[in-house]
Amino acid sequence: MKEKLKKIREQIFNDLRREMSMKDLTNLQIRYLGRKGEVTQLLRSIKNMAGEQKKDFGRLANELKREIEEQFTVAGNRIKELTGKKKETPFDPTLPGTPYHPGGLHPVTQMTRLIQQTFSRMNFELVLGPELETDFYNFEALNVPKDHPARDMQDTFYLTEELLLRTHTSPMQVRYMQKHQPPFRIIVTGKCYRRDSDLTHTPMFNQFEGLMIGADVTMEHLKNILKVSMKKILGKEVCVRFRISYFPFVEPGAEFDVTCTICDGLGCATCKHTGWLEMGGCGMVHPNVLTASGVDAEKWQGFAFGFGIERVFMIKHKVNDLRLFFENDVRFLKQF
Ligand code: FA5
Repeated sequence: MKEKLKKIREQIFNDLRREMSMKDLTNLQIRYLGRKGEVTQLLRSIKNMAGEQKKDFGRLANELKREIEEQFTVAGNRIKELTGKKKETPFDPTLPGTPYHPGGLHPVTQMTRLIQQTFSRMNFELVLGPELETDFYNFEALNVPKDHPARDMQDTFYLTEELLLRTHTSPMQVRYMQKHQPPFRIIVTGKCYRRDSDLTHTPMFNQFEGLMIGADVTMEHLKNILKVSMKKILGKEVCVRFRISYFPFVEPGAEFDVTCTICDGLGCATCKHTGWLEMGGCGMVHPNVLTASGVDAEKWQGFAFGFGIERVFMIKHKVNDLRLFFENDVRFLKQF
């Protein structure tokens, strides 16, 4: 019997010396000390022994059990220590640091700043105004009375009958002219809102508006200023053209097009094979608007234009869906 105890002890000690995981150790523990384990069976057999042998063997077997339990605890601690060490990443001060991603400016912010900078270099003063507008500034003063059909194209979100989210940056023409006498030239940037939603129209978008009033400002000045500014903003030489159009607050009025930046005017799917891309509206400020703003229409004249900021960005960077600007998908945003 003593021989048996010695053999089992050796066997357990050999097993514990091997490299193993916590799970292996638990299995080993069950194998020797579990309910049907080898050591447990040995201890159980004591009750069938007689007299002196029972006493002797009982003492030895219990000593062995204690010793084995101790060895299992030691082995468990060693495994815990080793796995803990493996998890700790050693610190190497010579390695370069983890790159820090500080984020970047949103494409609309980048384009807005470029537009502001371009016009400020041409002596245009930057003016910002309220997004919550009155019916008077957004429509009435701009020669769009309450029953005018042009209101249908600029349906918006009304807070009351008189208060609405502005549909364009043009109300700033009136606000500025009420407080300043010509000559002046201003650029306005900011958010606008309309009841619109498709691939090229969103309920919220950004516009920039130009206004230049003087004694003899003409459409020729407008065309040249737009040509020079578009070259700077789009980053390449483009041809520009006016296409006759109607806006109640200008007379004459026009749509302003640039040669398609994708096919260089040759014709492609984006420009619908016309070779031209529409940027926005423009024209000579209507005398009614000058008068409503307190400017003498007999003495002063000038031009105004209003373009979509996202639209310019789309033309420059070949973006085909306006909604991408507002979905905040980093895969889109980080390209710019
Ligand atoms: C206007 O808003 C006029 N106020 C522009 C103007 C100013 C004309 C001064 C004459 C003198 P229009 O509705 O066409 O015009 O809008 C101008 C540009 O804003 C469009 O060409 C387009 O680029 C952009 N835009 C209009 N609606 C949306 C929309 N829902 N989503 C995105 N961009 C839009």
